[in-house]
Amino acid sequence: MSRLVVISNRVAVPKARGAAGAQGGLAGALLAALKPQEGLWVGWSGNENDNPPSAPHIQTNDGVTTATIDLHPQDVEEYYNGYANSTLWPLFHYRIDLTEYSRETGKGYERVNDLFANAAAPLIEPDDLVWVHDYHFIPLGERLRNQGLKNKLGFFLHIPWPPTRLLVSLPYHERLVRALLKYDLIGFQCTEWLESFLHYCVKELGAQVDERTGEITIEGRTTTARSYPIGIDYEHFMEEGRSREAGQAEQRIIASTRDRTAMIGVDRLDYSKGLPERLEGLARLFERYPERVRDLVFIQIAPPSREDIGSYQRIRETLEQKTGEINGAYSQIDLVPIRYVNRGHSTAELFGIYRASKVGFVTPLRDGMNLVAKEYIAAQDPDDPGVLILSRFAGAAQQLTEALLVNPHSPDELESAIRTALEMPLAERKTRWNKLSECVRNENISSWTASFLGDLRDANL
Ligand code: F6P
Repeated sequence: MSRLVVISNRVAVPKARGAAGAQGGLAGALLAALKPQEGLWVGWSGNENDNPPSAPHIQTNDGVTTATIDLHPQDVEEYYNGYANSTLWPLFHYRIDLTEYSRETGKGYERVNDLFANAAAPLIEPDDLVWVHDYHFIPLGERLRNQGLKNKLGFFLHIPWPPTRLLVSLPYHERLVRALLKYDLIGFQCTEWLESFLHYCVKELGAQVDERTGEITIEGRTTTARSYPIGIDYEHFMEEGRSREAGQAEQRIIASTRDRTAMIGVDRLDYSKGLPERLEGLARLFERYPERVRDLVFIQIAPPSREDIGSYQRIRETLEQKTGEINGAYSQIDLVPIRYVNRGHSTAELFGIYRASKVGFVTPLRDGMNLVAKEYIAAQDPDDPGVLILSRFAGAAQQLTEALLVNPHSPDELESAIRTALEMPLAERKTRWNKLSECVRNENISSWTASFLGDLRDANL
């Protein structure tokens, strides 16, 4: 069997795994994908270095070999903080108002893609399957081809693909998409993002698209694009749920909320997650039904993220201010309506926290998939399951149709969904949860990996 080489910006060393679930599903998901096979994982070490060594640092931990490289501070600024997270991230999350366009960061992005191609190419053997992940490395496949690699090259985008009308605002958008088409297989989280991509290929590039197979033909070359909804590492998550740590976290929530219902949100502190809008919905509830303050406690876990970027600093300030305002207005001498926690939590702790929370509040404004929604479902007690409130703009909404689907921009809808969740009879909670949990259990990380890699192996070169 061919070896798997994964390339992604973040690399999780196995022992650091606990934090991955809370802070972005990608690293944890890839670790699960790599563990059963003898594979290699190439990415950024997370370190800045004024004199980065050109050869990657290779180590094997718990059966997974990683090859990581340090980046020069200017590379981090232009590639990671700049083009990846101040241009592509906001644009791909439909936030054209936050999107910054600069030649320097664009060049930095290309330079770092070259750097990774130079570092990875010598490590790749002729039979290896190469699987590149996320918006940091859109042009990497083209760069690897330029180095003479003939391997099958797959790419998976973990975030949304924007509508053509937004994408065309990106200078050199054509160059970026043409580079992406150099991969043999391109995967998206759901059909909505896939359809936007195919639309772009037809409208802007004049490509021939077969919507049934996902084949895109341009200038005599054919590549395939399909949707592969990512799932959680179900077995591992359930195993963590049986740990003492999970039980203790569950008890801490139960003991500290007493006769109030806990409603939980867990998100990287990112403007795409709709956190201020979520608070608006909660404020609307308390405004209309002040007595609900005694029924409900909202726990928002939000580990800070990308803290060097202005838009992230601003969203943090907004959130702190709104939390303070709502707590100030609705706290009573013996209770506070919102617990706002900036610390990350281990997978086991999260399991316990989800299980003790009878409402899951997952309302991003736009999200590639959202694995918190799936983890919340997996953690529920089958005899007394909680209710998931889910944004219709998360990729997960296409699969988790038995959740209470909401428009996160509407405080009225959020307010009414919270009341519906609090009042939902046990029989309805069970019926909904049974369907949701079947999907989360079956469409898991192993089936995701198997279906993408199966198609990549079959891809025609
Ligand atoms: O899932 C999307 C993603 O951007 C991943 O690529 C990334 O690892 C994760 O979110 C967390 O973001 P960051 O790596 O910038 O901390």
